[in-house]
Amino acid sequence: MSYITDYIEKNKQRFLDELFALIRIPSISSQTEHKPDMLKAAEYWKKTLLDAGADKAEIFTTTGNPIVYGEKTVDTSLPTILVYGHYDVMPVDPENQWVSAPFEPVIRDGKIYARGADDDKGQSFIHAKAFELMVQTGTLPCNVKFMLEGEEEIGSSSLKTWCADNKELLNSDVIIVSDTSMIAEDVPSITTGLRGISCLEVEVSGPSYDLHSGIYGGAVANPVNILCKMIASLHDENGKVKVKGFYDEVEIVSNEERRELAKAPFSLEEYKKSLNINEVWGETGYTTTERTGIRPALDVNGIWGGYTGEGSKTIIPAKAFAKISMRLVPNQDYTKIAELFKAHFESLAPAYVRVKVTPLHGGQGYVSPIDSPAYKAAQRAVKESFGVAPVPFRSGGSIPIISTFEQVLGAKSILMGFGLESDAIHSPNENFPLSNFYKGIETVPLFYKYFVEEYSKKQS
Ligand code: BES
Ligand code: MN
Ligand code: MN
Repeated sequence: MSYITDYIEKNKQRFLDELFALIRIPSISSQTEHKPDMLKAAEYWKKTLLDAGADKAEIFTTTGNPIVYGEKTVDTSLPTILVYGHYDVMPVDPENQWVSAPFEPVIRDGKIYARGADDDKGQSFIHAKAFELMVQTGTLPCNVKFMLEGEEEIGSSSLKTWCADNKELLNSDVIIVSDTSMIAEDVPSITTGLRGISCLEVEVSGPSYDLHSGIYGGAVANPVNILCKMIASLHDENGKVKVKGFYDEVEIVSNEERRELAKAPFSLEEYKKSLNINEVWGETGYTTTERTGIRPALDVNGIWGGYTGEGSKTIIPAKAFAKISMRLVPNQDYTKIAELFKAHFESLAPAYVRVKVTPLHGGQGYVSPIDSPAYKAAQRAVKESFGVAPVPFRSGGSIPIISTFEQVLGAKSILMGFGLESDAIHSPNENFPLSNFYKGIETVPLFYKYFVEEYSKKQS
């Protein structure tokens, strides 16, 4: 047994208890009623960093949710790793579909079940415990900085400003992030791309109040009917998004790179089976992995209006609403896409209704280098702990701050995620296998070690 697995073995239960305490704080960033929980989670992180051996840790208040920063300097002549993670989580609804309460973590079949078990409490906590391990065993080979935020799930707007104001403090040689997934436990992978995102809300209004659908039905346009028609027109029969100008800046991936990307193992049959769907859907001419990895998409995240309570209520609703997200690929700018969508959607509105489009938040996509010292270090570390060389692959998810790090701090991020695609993040019954939690804690110290090695190779 190495000093790494030895330390993990001896502290296994405590690591889990400490993670569970973090998970029990219901830090849902999109719901104002949870505002006090954001500070609680930030304070818990501050304590975690100090207990693990940080020289200092601080909570920075922002106009949004607090940012936690901590650091340990070993020797200023050594490189510095910056760890990023988020302590906020997604809402839990539909709550009745959870087998056990979302904020009361339990272990079933070797997995932790709870909101945040993977995204991103479980994954970010791996770094805290690996840091503790290195400090306690006297093996921390370089300087380290931690930065945890509470607005990732709502677009990271406070952190964007905070980064620009604290460039000096955040100076580092690489940023390491565990907030993505692996293809499978026996197919470890490193994420080499993230999609950008643009989130909006739309409102369609008709009469100034709900009308009796018998007295007025057939004579006054129904905003819910109209909204459905407008949304249905956003895709053509080939699954292409019809927003004018949507594809103008899309990066065209070469056939050679498409062949490379196609090497990542993928079974369409298993995919369909795991999702309980009969057929996949998407843009004609692209495979399922291409549809999420290199092509943009548009989805309705929620739609409401009128009466949705028990029984029936015969009305023509005065208003209809929808939340929409567009997933973007390199070169598409999220603010420009929001404008294109707004112009397009407004142009679709028939004279019977008024349409309002409100952009909410977003972020640019990201492509990671695969030849940098940090990428090589991640590759070596994952290969050693999982026993198989990791496959590079582009994920369909988004982490809005990653491109800001590149633009504002000039630092590239390495997306060494330990989640699994089966972890049901954002869904009811989110989970995280214990094995990946511990494997992660085993991998991170190896990453530090190999990063320092690869880094000095490059310097000399
Ligand atoms: N951790 C995810 C992103 C992710 C998950 C990337 C799996 C790749 C694989 C992150 O917390 C997330 O959910 N981001 C949001 C961002 C949005 C709300 C601005 C997303 O992608 O929906
Ligand atoms: Mn996340
Ligand atoms: Mn998330």
